Parts: sequence; structure tokens; C-alpha cells
Amino acid sequence: MSKDVYRSPKKRGKIAVFLSGRGSNFVAIHDEIRAGKINADIGLVFSNKQEALGLKIAQECNLQTLSLNPKDFTSREDYDRKIVEEIKKRDIDLICLAGYMRILTPLFCEAFRNKIINIHPALLPSFPGLHVQQKAIDWGVRYSGATVHFVTPEVDMGPIITQAIVPVLQDDTEDTLSERILKEEHKIYSEAVRLYFEGMLEVRDRRVFIL
Ligand code: GRF
Repeated sequence: MSKDVYRSPKKRGKIAVFLSGRGSNFVAIHDEIRAGKINADIGLVFSNKQEALGLKIAQECNLQTLSLNPKDFTSREDYDRKIVEEIKKRDIDLICLAGYMRILTPLFCEAFRNKIINIHPALLPSFPGLHVQQKAIDWGVRYSGATVHFVTPEVDMGPIITQAIVPVLQDDTEDTLSERILKEEHKIYSEAVRLYFEGMLEVRDRRVFIL
């Protein structure tokens, strides 16, 4: 019997996107929202890097943005505590990590249990961590892909929502493989967010059922 069951809400939700770089996954989600395919609004785009391209794009789209410099805080916990406060102020329902290059502290993960999701450019649990497209090539796997998963304190190990498979070709470089995986990321990330606010995701222990 399952000890721990969580069902995502069926409602018009408010999303916060966390990013540190170019923000193509953020743009993909934003586009799907504007096309009326996701029942949500983006209430905040947050970054740990003021110069992140994704943050600039968000500003151009007139979305609310916030960046906090980790150097202005005494510890990782302090930094995350401030973000928890900012998120709670805005009544955010779901946090989408989209190339957010900071590990979240357990206090942050616990504050938003079942309310943080992430996109990872490999088929988890294979290849957690960084530079995973190159690792897939180096291992000689025939297939890699992308994974959307709930975030827990153990990095890249939370319950898996959805995955896409991408073949690894013999002449692939890190760039060519990354590019093909990224196209799939954009599709499955938007789809996962859509399902979330359709109330269709049920987390039972470490498995996610699509209802
Ligand atoms: C993506 O490959 C994502 O899987 C990883 O970081 C990258 C972010 O790309 N977590 P972008 O900023 O969304 O373009």
C-alpha cells in the first residue's frame, strides 16, 4: 500500500520559472501558455544570474522577474530561505527549474514538496549531474533523451513524470546530441506542466501515474 500520495491540482496555476542561462525551455513553456495549451500563468522568472539571457527575454515579455546574487547571502540556506519568502509572497503553485544551475537546499525542497519540477537532458536515473550528453556519447549508449521529474533533495533522483528517447548517432558531438535532445525537452516539459494543472499527475511514493 502506498504511504505517500500526492495529486496535482486541477486549476489555473501560477508558475515560477528558475533559470541561469539562455532559457529556451522557459520560452517553450511560455509559448504553450500563450497558445492556450497550458492552464497557467508565469508569475515569476527567477535567476541566480542577473545577466542570464532567459531573464532578459522574460523582461521583454513583460513578465515579473527577480534575480538574487548568492554572494549577498551568508549561506546557501539563507539564500534559499529568501527565495522561499519571495515565492510564498506570490502564491506560486509550481516551480519549474529550467537550466537552474544551483543545487536546492533540503529546506527549499521541503518548503515546496511536489511543487518543483525539473528537466534533465538524459534518461534518468542514467547520467545524473552535468555534461550528461557528452557522458552518454562516451558510454556508447545507443539511446539517450530527456526526463521531467519532481525535485527532491537528492539531485536528479525525484519521481519521473515523463521521458523522451533520442537516439545517439555514431558521429554525434556533444553539441549535435544536445541540440536534438533540447527539441524533445521543449515538448515534454510543456506537456508535463500541462498535465500538472489538468490535475492528472499522481505521485505514489516514487512513481508518478498519469491519470
Ligand atoms: C537544458 O538542457 C536542461 O535540460 C538542463 O539545462 C539546459 C537548459 O537549457 N537542465 P535552456 O536554458 O532551457 O535553453
